[in-house]
Amino acid sequence: MDITPPELLPAALAHHVPDWAEAAPTPADVTDWDQRQANALVPFQLDAQGWPMHPHGPTGRTGRNLGKWGENQAADPIVVAGSGQDRRVLLITRDDIHVEAIPGGMVDPGETAPAALVRELREETGVDLSDHRPIILGQDLVDDWRNSDNAWVASTSALYLLPATVTAVAADDALDATWYPFGSVDQLDAAITATGRTLYAAHRPLLQRALDHLDTAVQPDQTC
Ligand code: RP5
Repeated sequence: MDITPPELLPAALAHHVPDWAEAAPTPADVTDWDQRQANALVPFQLDAQGWPMHPHGPTGRTGRNLGKWGENQAADPIVVAGSGQDRRVLLITRDDIHVEAIPGGMVDPGETAPAALVRELREETGVDLSDHRPIILGQDLVDDWRNSDNAWVASTSALYLLPATVTAVAADDALDATWYPFGSVDQLDAAITATGRTLYAAHRPLLQRALDHLDTAVQPDQTC
């Protein structure tokens, strides 16, 4: 199935290129694959005709519903507040697919992942953590609904730890910003479901890794 939206079809691109997308109508029109492969968060190969291949193999979807062919780099800030029974995580309601998700977004051209983490969080929740030092958790493929065989999302996810929740106000691509209980992904899922909403499934592995990190990290009071 070709998932290319009307505005990214070759005929449309010939007239107008959306500001979030590259102009190339096909991967054959991209000239810097060497550089993109070298800069990839998750290594990928080109097929016999020189098109980038999703690192996990065929997706059942062709075309492009993302800004770029090949890897599209995102940044996902996982903001956790409090500890023990009071531990919470900050999620937003995405305005496109209406699910509860990490307040992340695409890295802008020329931007670093740490800068994108801070910018996306501020844009979508009003929370400014530019003074905080995140713990980088990993660089992973995200099972995004826009992925195809030739264009996909890979994300740098990072953990921010706060002593207590702070005021979060949804803006930009977010319809709502909510602090949810974060003892486990199942508990989070249940809390979200209880409000009539749905957890973005593609973010489950990222949230699970954040929990794994939290639950195995040596706490300051356990070091002596
Ligand atoms: C997700 O989409 C990524 O993990 C990230 O949270 C987000 C990036 O896309 P936009 O929010 O910019 O649409 O798959």
